[in-house]
Amino acid sequence: MKIVYVNQRVIDLVQLKEGIYWVGAIDWNIRNFHGYITNRGTTYNAYLIVDEKVALIDTVKSSFFPEMVQRIKKIVDLVNLDYIISNHTEPDHSGSIKKLLSVARNAELIASERGQNGLAWYYGEDLECTTIKEKPNINLGNRNLQFVPVPMVHWPDSMVTYIPEDQLLLSNDAFGQHFASSKRFDDEVDQTVIMQEAKTYYANIVMHLWGPIGSALKALEGIEIKMIAPSHGIIWRRKLDMIIEAYKKWVEGVSDPRVIVVYDTMWGSTEMVANAIAEGIISEGVEVQLYKLSNSDNTEIISNILDARAVLIGSPTLNNGLFPTVASFLMYMKGLKPRKKLGAFFGSYGWGGGAKREAEAELKATGIELIESDLDFNFKPSQKELEKAVEFGKTIARKV
Ligand code: FEO
Repeated sequence: MKIVYVNQRVIDLVQLKEGIYWVGAIDWNIRNFHGYITNRGTTYNAYLIVDEKVALIDTVKSSFFPEMVQRIKKIVDLVNLDYIISNHTEPDHSGSIKKLLSVARNAELIASERGQNGLAWYYGEDLECTTIKEKPNINLGNRNLQFVPVPMVHWPDSMVTYIPEDQLLLSNDAFGQHFASSKRFDDEVDQTVIMQEAKTYYANIVMHLWGPIGSALKALEGIEIKMIAPSHGIIWRRKLDMIIEAYKKWVEGVSDPRVIVVYDTMWGSTEMVANAIAEGIISEGVEVQLYKLSNSDNTEIISNILDARAVLIGSPTLNNGLFPTVASFLMYMKGLKPRKKLGAFFGSYGWGGGAKREAEAELKATGIELIESDLDFNFKPSQKELEKAVEFGKTIARKV
């Protein structure tokens, strides 16, 4: 194996440990990641391990192939790559595999069995791939790669790679954040920001997969880990306890006594009810957050629902059903299935209702415990009806 140093530029490359390099790409400008609003961009992390054998863990989104290759080539010739490990088939990680194999001609592709199938679907049946059933471990010389399947964290094919000699976990989507930065490590960035991004990522990508994630966390309990290198965002080398404890709390559905009020309004009536409910909640000393859907994005709302105890949904009736923004939000939330929540409906209608029935059906389908409410008002709520909404706010506040 030949190592190429270009005028000492190799020192510009970030090393996690001696001989383990970050060779990924920074996507500063992505703002929508399959429907998730990524206000801080993201990174696609790939890691190069240089030993007697050379292995690359994951690749990057296809359009970032040149950036990844530029980094790898500062360290080794591509023909010296012995292994390409695909921890996950989703194209943000596998998107450069086919192009890379065309130039890294000596590399063997390794994936889980489901990963092998997924890669063939995406990149063609002729893609040669060894499964981790055939090679559950690989010796690189002084280091070993151990492959651990973690199905549904985030897809059925997902796996992680562990290097016991460094106690380093290459965790793919788990513990990631959509966060573009010129820094690579947790102790180099603002802790509050990075935890917020980790929370937003968990809530919007994997919240409904709490079961498999809980199993994976249990499996990791017996493994010594000193560093976690996910495939998005920064690498955890100092604050491992902080992110692992946060994951445990999210998996368990632990919540704060906080109420999220999500609504939209046509002529202001539903908004009047939202404000009256909030007044009642505040009067009991409980925290409340209001989101008008026409001014908000689902990503932020779901992130805040993750650790709130209750979510109240407000909608006018339009065409005998839900207001479109509310319907869209409920569909998004139903897929992500926040755990252990209380919920209720409020709203307004003209000559015939419909929003309440549909919203309550969606809340039940989401697994939210429905609190009976009688807050669907004709046209514009009267003062008496607004007082009723204030009282309902107080009731909810006492429940959380
Ligand atoms: Fe970052 Fe599930 O891919």
